[in-house]
Amino acid sequence: MLRAIVVIAKTSESSVQVQTTASAADVGKMLKNQLVENATIISADIPDWSREVPVQFWDPGRKLLLALRRYQYLQGKKGIIAAWISKWLVVRHHFWSVVAGAEIPLNCKIGGGLLLTHPNGIVIHPDAKIGVNCLILQQVTIGTSKGGAPEIAGHVDIGAGAKILGPVKIGPHAQIGANAVVLKDVPSSGIAVGVPARIIGTTE
Ligand SMILES: CC(C)(COP(=O)(O)OP(=O)(O)OC[C@H]1O[C@@H](n2cnc3c(N)ncnc32)[C@H](O)[C@@H]1OP(=O)(O)O)[C@@H](O)C(=O)NCCC(=O)NCCS
Repeated sequence: MLRAIVVIAKTSESSVQVQTTASAADVGKMLKNQLVENATIISADIPDWSREVPVQFWDPGRKLLLALRRYQYLQGKKGIIAAWISKWLVVRHHFWSVVAGAEIPLNCKIGGGLLLTHPNGIVIHPDAKIGVNCLILQQVTIGTSKGGAPEIAGHVDIGAGAKILGPVKIGPHAQIGANAVVLKDVPSSGIAVGVPARIIGTTE
């Protein structure tokens, strides 16, 4: 059984050895906290594809995305089989779009790991760019205004009913509040709420 932890703290002048004791329960608690901390760190650069794996047959958000991913994968392929499967995927994409009541075009540029927990009413402009591991909740619109579409970085959470309009840039790890109307850039880790949206803090 683990009874003690030895921490060696080095200073510039000398090496100091500090010995402290901790029970197995304390060590277990520390390890658990570390695991929880690691699990909640979501990357803004590396897609976590496991977020998109359907968990059951009736999983409209993930099924819609799956059709979109497979369709985009086949776009670079030649041959009659790829062409037929692509047509089948277009039908599947239409089916799940109708079920979800969402409009996410097949040619959208969306990074891996997107979560569409409640996909109903989501509308995304085909020119919009969305980074990896984002979360988009119901009734969100990511669309054009004044001739441009939004660019959303990795790990941005977009609350229910939010609208992001025009050529705005949303920085990584930002959060957009429910029903916010974003018309200006949001900095990295910024929290934007209100109509029009204003920055109320950071997620750090
Ligand atoms: C934006 C959000 C992430 C902020 O969370 P937070 O950092 O914990 O912020 P707080 O709750 O501490 O609120 C801070 C301030 O912003 C205000 N605020 C929070 N969310 C707001 C929103 N969506 N619109 C307007 N103001 C909002 C609060 O009233 C508070 O104002 P105050 O300081 O004057 O009292 C969160 O409120 C939000 O909207 N999340 C989306 C959740 C969602 O869509 N859920 C649907 C699930 S199905």
